Amino acid sequence: MSKYTQREAITVSQILQAKAAGKKISCVTCYDAAFAKLIEATQVDLVLVGDSLGNVVLGHDSTIPVTMDDMVHHTAAVARVLRRPFICADMPFLSYNLSVEQALSNAGRLVQVAGAQAVKVEGGAAIVPQIKAMVQAGIPVMGHLGLTPQSVHAMGGYRVQGRGSDAAKRIMDDALTLQEAGIFSLVLEMVPAELAGRISAALKIPTIGIGAGPQCDGQILVLHDLLGFDEEFKPKFLKKYANLGKIIKDAISAYDGDVKAGSFPAAEHSFKD
Ligand code: KIV
Repeated sequence: MSKYTQREAITVSQILQAKAAGKKISCVTCYDAAFAKLIEATQVDLVLVGDSLGNVVLGHDSTIPVTMDDMVHHTAAVARVLRRPFICADMPFLSYNLSVEQALSNAGRLVQVAGAQAVKVEGGAAIVPQIKAMVQAGIPVMGHLGLTPQSVHAMGGYRVQGRGSDAAKRIMDDALTLQEAGIFSLVLEMVPAELAGRISAALKIPTIGIGAGPQCDGQILVLHDLLGFDEEFKPKFLKKYANLGKIIKDAISAYDGDVKAGSFPAAEHSFKD
């Protein structure tokens, strides 16, 4: 059944109402149908098909190589399964910066072809014309300020942003400008908690934090990070809710051992005549 016929799917207005009611919004990333099925069984509000896809699934060392085709392919896999959570898809590097027409056409693919309900873009005042055009075309847009990984080369690495009054003011000004342009929510990544608190208080739309402290209206983590796939990856902002990396390695090693010892498959795994 199409996502669009699902009356129980969370809407933009419910996300806005959550902020007004002081209810925290829980968000997580997802890139495939298997995990989407597990997320569907939870109460998570919003699923982001993030371009972190590049790092955690496609084996790139940044989000920059991720393409529109990658995003459409993975968003469609997630949207085939999810019914209740709101689905937002990231617009990848340079898929919206060239022109309003480019942004509209690529956002249209993510919504019309892949089944997203909204798109996310990184950046401030420079992309206001694109945001206004997408919103006018009926595509809800999520903003993303602070550490914006698509600009990692310009930022000189994955560092906390908005430290010091000038940098903090730039992020606050961009947040107000994006709200004015029509975004329905704003990701704040790796900014001081006090700044994120001030921005959250200044905006009518919800802020969604990652490494931005407890005062944001919602939180997001990369699914593979919160599940502990990579034992080496331990940024300060991350809380691991499981250590699946070790559990999965142990399971695959046990299978490998059984196959090599000839103990799998056993009689109970074999068919009779
Ligand atoms: O791509 C992504 O996963 C993101 C979140 C970390 C917000 O942009």
